[in-house]
Amino acid sequence: MSEPTWGRNRRFCSTLSGSDVGVAVDLAGWVQVRRDLGGLVFVELRDSSGRVQLVADPNKNKDVFEVFTSLKSEYVIAVRGEVSERPANTVNPNSPTGAIEIYPDTVSLLNTAAPLPFQLDSGQQVDESLRLKYRYLDLRRSEMHDHFVLRHKIAQAIRNYLNENSFLEIETPILTKATPEGARDFLVPSRLNPGSWYALPQSPQLFKQTLMISGFDRYYQIARCFRDEDLRADRQPEFTQVDLEMSFVDEEQIMQVTEGWLTAAFACAGIDVPRPFPRYTYKHIFERYGTDKPDMRFGMEIKDLTSVASVCQFKMFRSVADAGGKLKAICVKDGAQGISRKQTDSWQEAVKSWGGKGMAWVAFAQGGVRSSGIDKHLSEEEMSSVKDLSTAKEGDLVLLVADKDPLVTVLLGRLRLKIGEELDLIDTSKHSLLWVSEFPLFEFDPEEERLVAVHHPFTAPHSQDLGLLKSKPEQVRARAYDVVYNGVELGSGSIRIHDQNLQSEVFSIIGIDKETAKQKFGFLLDALASGAPPHGGIALGLDRIVMLLAGCKSIREVIAFPKTQSGACLMTEAPSAASPQQLSELKIKPGSEAKAAVPLQ
Ligand code: AMO
Repeated sequence: MSEPTWGRNRRFCSTLSGSDVGVAVDLAGWVQVRRDLGGLVFVELRDSSGRVQLVADPNKNKDVFEVFTSLKSEYVIAVRGEVSERPANTVNPNSPTGAIEIYPDTVSLLNTAAPLPFQLDSGQQVDESLRLKYRYLDLRRSEMHDHFVLRHKIAQAIRNYLNENSFLEIETPILTKATPEGARDFLVPSRLNPGSWYALPQSPQLFKQTLMISGFDRYYQIARCFRDEDLRADRQPEFTQVDLEMSFVDEEQIMQVTEGWLTAAFACAGIDVPRPFPRYTYKHIFERYGTDKPDMRFGMEIKDLTSVASVCQFKMFRSVADAGGKLKAICVKDGAQGISRKQTDSWQEAVKSWGGKGMAWVAFAQGGVRSSGIDKHLSEEEMSSVKDLSTAKEGDLVLLVADKDPLVTVLLGRLRLKIGEELDLIDTSKHSLLWVSEFPLFEFDPEEERLVAVHHPFTAPHSQDLGLLKSKPEQVRARAYDVVYNGVELGSGSIRIHDQNLQSEVFSIIGIDKETAKQKFGFLLDALASGAPPHGGIALGLDRIVMLLAGCKSIREVIAFPKTQSGACLMTEAPSAASPQQLSELKIKPGSEAKAAVPLQ
């Protein structure tokens, strides 16, 4: 008995066109939809490439017609037939194969399909947990297919660029030791070493540095990373980084390479971005936008009005300035008219909910100045300084916040974004890519009551600031850089410390004593002492890049099998309980961890 041969000469639906008229073709795929019209049965056949119309006519082929009348959505069929031109009045100009159709000579029903839990054409309106539970169906939808085609193209473009630029793709371990990227580790028990645990890598950071020390010069990897952190729309517990490292380089070289492959990735979505991307220091950006990842597709920069607060008699402002705080403002162009009291009240409430004392406003309207009350407390001269310093013109609305520094800047940064969205000020046709560098190397963590590394502890301090390491560590700038797209951090990197003594000193500043450093990073310290070249690198979130280029709001849309907010895979029902036998092999006592495998929502 011979197996069916329908797959051997199969053509993809989307490859068919008018030039195939008269050619007999084999096709296989799913029944997208069946329509019975005027004695004929029409079937839209879908495969991975697209769709084509099949027609069964009882007068031409009774057997095929009979099978066709029994077809339901998502049944799997194979057909053979000649491509024919559609009658002019039935041509569908909206479909790439809309000018042709096929009257099959043979049809094989390869599989049936149970009734669907949701319609595949309206997937976006379906509850997301249902889509995730039946992900294999959700992924059949053409929008989802498009996301993964784009993801593939982007990954290929990145690989091509890096391969052409002498980078080597090298894999690093998944079962490894904790790397300090700031999130919690996922731990895996070792059966062969009871009581010992592997950590899944939060990033390949230490391995890629080690590869530089091993002389590979240029490494990259499209690397899986794992972080046990609270999830948001742009975060998953396992995600993919485009990770690279280079030897004998400075910041500029890494930025240039990154711009090279990133523009190639953007080109996959038809977006042309000019190079070089603008470069700013953290100080410059933070003062103007109150964040390290500004959305520069609209203006409304933050202005400092502390000079008014520190001389005025208005207690609310003066007391803040006297206590070392600042008065800052943003100006809503043409906002003096048309912005309701309700709206300014809601902005005041928002500022309070973010931990601020409040927000004042002044409308420089044509008919006269209106305000939340501050014009009664400020002199005419002070009001005119408010207008000048905030760069307001007649017709503009100025929003003022007085608070501790840097909180005041953060509050206005958040307010700026909120207003930008609410008033539709963001020019969505723009693509704003930029670099932010010279971040502080350390920041004070109030919970841990110690300095911590802003990026990670392997980042090199700015050479001009080395003298401040002991005396004023908070003032030391890092040789770190972030790349930002439309207000989203795409990636970050740094020039690394390649000197063992400097690395030990940085560990000790962030409270990692010699013993712990040796235990956790002994191999790195030894490697640094073995002739480590100067090196640096960067990692960008591939999921985030694809999400933004596909125009999606969540990275779950561009990850084939993502997890829910609580880290569950609704399709496989992971995580789930381990069996008593598995636990006993791992020498783990069954206990609180061995709950039933209830899918977590
Ligand atoms: P960092 O921790 O900034 O740097 O990560 C780099 C980029 O990875 C993406 N990313 C994530 N994407 C999805 N889900 C997550 N949970 C998640 N966490 C991070 C972001 C981020 O900008 N080793 C350093 C890089 C280096 O210094 O070379 C690192 O991992 O887009």
